[in-house]
Amino acid sequence: MDNKIKLLQDKIEQAQEGGGPQRIQSQHKKGKLTARERIHFLLDEGSFQEIGMFVTHRSTDFGMETEKYPGDGVVTGYGNINGRLVYIFSQDFTVFGGSLSETHAEKICKIMEMALKTGAPLIGLNDSGGARIQEGVVSLGGYADIFYRNVQASGVIPQLSAIMGPCAGGAVYSPAITDFTLMVENTSYMFVTGPNVVKTVTHEEVSSEELGGASTHATKSGVTHFSCVNELDAINHIKQLLSYMPQNCEETPALLAYKPDQQESRPSLNKIIPENANQPYDVRGVIDQLSDQGSFLEVHKDFAENIVVGFARLAGRSIGIVANQPAYLAGVLDNNASVKAARFVRFCDCFNIPLLVLEDVPGFLPGTDQEWNGIIKNGAKLLYAFSEATVPRITVIIRKAYGGAYDVMNSKHIGADMNYAWPTAEIAVMGAKGAAEIIFKKEISSAADPAAKLLEKEKEYAEIFANPYRAAERGFIDEVIEPASTRSRLISAFKMLENKVVNNPRKKHGNIPL
Ligand code: HXC
Repeated sequence: MDNKIKLLQDKIEQAQEGGGPQRIQSQHKKGKLTARERIHFLLDEGSFQEIGMFVTHRSTDFGMETEKYPGDGVVTGYGNINGRLVYIFSQDFTVFGGSLSETHAEKICKIMEMALKTGAPLIGLNDSGGARIQEGVVSLGGYADIFYRNVQASGVIPQLSAIMGPCAGGAVYSPAITDFTLMVENTSYMFVTGPNVVKTVTHEEVSSEELGGASTHATKSGVTHFSCVNELDAINHIKQLLSYMPQNCEETPALLAYKPDQQESRPSLNKIIPENANQPYDVRGVIDQLSDQGSFLEVHKDFAENIVVGFARLAGRSIGIVANQPAYLAGVLDNNASVKAARFVRFCDCFNIPLLVLEDVPGFLPGTDQEWNGIIKNGAKLLYAFSEATVPRITVIIRKAYGGAYDVMNSKHIGADMNYAWPTAEIAVMGAKGAAEIIFKKEISSAADPAAKLLEKEKEYAEIFANPYRAAERGFIDEVIEPASTRSRLISAFKMLENKVVNNPRKKHGNIPL
């Protein structure tokens, strides 16, 4: 018996060495942790239970039968994060560069299936050179097996992907299907084809970092939701992100303990909007005042900055916030902002996270760039996402709600439950100047002083429409509220909506304009 236990212990020790001390050293030299160290920092101490430690590859080409490492380049299993069950795979770059073999894929698929069966989040820590080149098509098949399961799990359990090293070829598509992607600055990159292939095909010279580093994907492509300064920062982000989510689509996020006798009035909100309606302000200031202290986690911070999205807590309740950002491009809706917000809204709706919309939007951005890049279909994505969302939905119109953007930004007409407006709200087809120029065109051009006439007509239009009361008279706005009272209104309204039930018509699935 003792001999057999010793044999097991030796085997475990061997597996834990991954690709060996030299490769581990080289991993550390690059500023990267090993697959097991990452799991150690992410999961509650002692909670990790490994599955498949002794799996090896079955390849016999290129002398591969003589080079086998227990675990085959990926550590898989389950454990807890703050007491909650999660499933995890962590690719081991020290074994064949974390490349994906047939058996490596099978291990990942196994825990994906368990996560789906038991309704718990799946976390992937990616550090891989892509398809195991020595294996050919079976490796490609392995990727497709993972993609298929990612899609089956989409909307059922939260799926988070951290990119902690190279992520090339097939390795990028699984993260892209998952709900959130986090990248580590300077040590991770994602691309379908690397700089060498780019140079051959398009003659472009570009570094890996420029082509697919964290800052590129956080600012230009929007592929990553978080750009993290190092691996521990990424690990902490995963923990925080998860705290706003339920285990699966059948559950609601945990309600944190909250003392209801706290002072909820926020007098500073009465002064947050500048006197001049064309002056910018940072909507994050409003978010900070409305949400529980320090609870806002911004998603996609550096991408499409004209819209701010993220998670926060309101009296302990997890909510998703979508807010136009007047401090960037006047908060206009454009292609990137529409897609960014639409995806966030759909995530919140998948996982029963109520939505708060803070609206200050001058409309959709005009121009050839926007039209040719599909602002019609991209704006429609946001419209579609809000319209199909069945979670509690509240809008506060802070200032501008112009044109189509009024409809799109969670208006009453597309199913919002409560729509508030501040007295500073302006709800109209367009801004007063543009409106006056069109409807009083003849009067203005034939006036002795056209500029003075335009100003007069602009004022007239503004007096009639640049306020929330026309909309409130119709019931499109449920209540015009003092800004200082917004937090207490929201706390009460989200509680009131707690048991909301809305069922969309039965269908196979909708056809969002992709
Ligand atoms: C097998 C691989 C490998 C791979 C790396 N290794 N990638 N082994 N298959 N795909 C091995 C190396 O042989 C080496 O082994 C070890 O991992 C570390 O690799 P290095 O090159 O020394 O490391 P580094 O300089 O850091 O470069 C990392 C890298 C580079 C950028 C990832 O290795 C690379 O470019 N690899 C190939 C990437 C690629 O083209 N993958 C296929 C994509 S196509 P030793 O024994 O020396 O430690 C694809 C199709 C799927 O994925 C499509 C599905 C839609």
